[in-house]
Amino acid sequence: MDRTAEGYDKATLLTLAERYTCPDRVRFLQGAGVDLMIGRRRGYRIWDLDGRELLDLHLNGGVYNLGHRNPEVVGALTEALTSLDIGNHHFPSGERALLAEELVNRTSGMRYAVFASGGGEAVDLAIKSARRATGRGRVVSAKDAYHGHTGLALAAGDESAATSFGSGGAPGEFRRVPFNDVQAMAEALAGQDVAAVILETVPATVGFLPPDPGYLAEVKRLCDLNGTMFIADEVQTGLGRTGSLWGVDLFDVVPDILVTGKGLSGGIYPIAATLLSERAGNWLETDGWGHVSTFGGAELGCVVARTVLTLTQAQQTRDHVVHLIGLWREGLAELQTRYPEWLTDIRQTGLCIGVEFNNEAGGMVMTRLLFDEGVWAMFAGFDRRYLQLKPGLLLSVDETQEALAALDRACQKAAGL
Ligand SMILES: Cc1ncc(COP(=O)(O)O)c(C=O)c1O
Repeated sequence: MDRTAEGYDKATLLTLAERYTCPDRVRFLQGAGVDLMIGRRRGYRIWDLDGRELLDLHLNGGVYNLGHRNPEVVGALTEALTSLDIGNHHFPSGERALLAEELVNRTSGMRYAVFASGGGEAVDLAIKSARRATGRGRVVSAKDAYHGHTGLALAAGDESAATSFGSGGAPGEFRRVPFNDVQAMAEALAGQDVAAVILETVPATVGFLPPDPGYLAEVKRLCDLNGTMFIADEVQTGLGRTGSLWGVDLFDVVPDILVTGKGLSGGIYPIAATLLSERAGNWLETDGWGHVSTFGGAELGCVVARTVLTLTQAQQTRDHVVHLIGLWREGLAELQTRYPEWLTDIRQTGLCIGVEFNNEAGGMVMTRLLFDEGVWAMFAGFDRRYLQLKPGLLLSVDETQEALAALDRACQKAAGL
């Protein structure tokens, strides 16, 4: 038996979680055979409270890009805790200033950084800024996009999720077009009344669908032509996951606004950021309290985020990511030759990987089989044929081989079903 929260056993804690947190989610996962309650965690390993060890290939969407409890990240936070706290958001902060400078200098086209405590809040600010800069209200996003569950982020995402909370906006305020459909985007922007287009650079929740060659650049061109701002949601694709610091760098696109979160926290202190171009953030010059967030840009989080940037940008990390990208490419191609009827598509943009299996719920089947094989990887919520794989930036070669071997065994089982 592993260590449990204050000595409770797993069954009791699951009962409490089901009763007091989100009953439906707890029941769904248990029904799907994934009764995981994470106890110990280290590097890319997590241990269920019942002691079972899993290799984490989902990383909570990239929160753990650098591993669970990365010692250097933990060290930076521990050191910061000897003198800092959250800080006071009304006053200028040295920690916020240094992080803002670093983010702005590392990101093409940006001039300001505003901090948030999570990705949804940062997306909300991105949309608010675009509206203020353009004086327009409408927002265009991709069908089956995911931008978070706060107000504007929710409205820009899946329509049913937004309307179920009465948060879908006024008719025509939030419009969705298919990703990779240039014509649909051109039509949506032609009225010159759209404040912002928001896109995930490689949409995660449909299984990391890569943008067609030239698509993102063409969307940006259409935005410029029609006076619309281009918001790049890099909450999952940023911070080295594509092999570049930002996914947009890979596609030679300079957005007006870029949103980052998840991995910026080092998995240890929540922080997210909205990076704004001169035009998008101009309101910051005249309206100092135009946006406030008590916890956004907490100083402890700023220290952590700077450590994350340093580790992510280290030449050694970048070289390792290039190596890993190649290993996954070769390993998955090899698997596809072994199971051509079952493993039907591989989408890979750096370490953003979606794998399709020949069944409407193939990704879910593989999630369950991999769980039994000691690997945690999650199906794509908006296209359950796909499994998402988000290997850590510092995953070792041995761990990569272990993961590929587990995939092989899972495919073997599934193909024989
Ligand atoms: C692409 C993308 N944008 C935004 C968000 C929202 O981030 P948060 O859950 O921190 O609000 C997520 C979270 O999964 C995401 O994947």
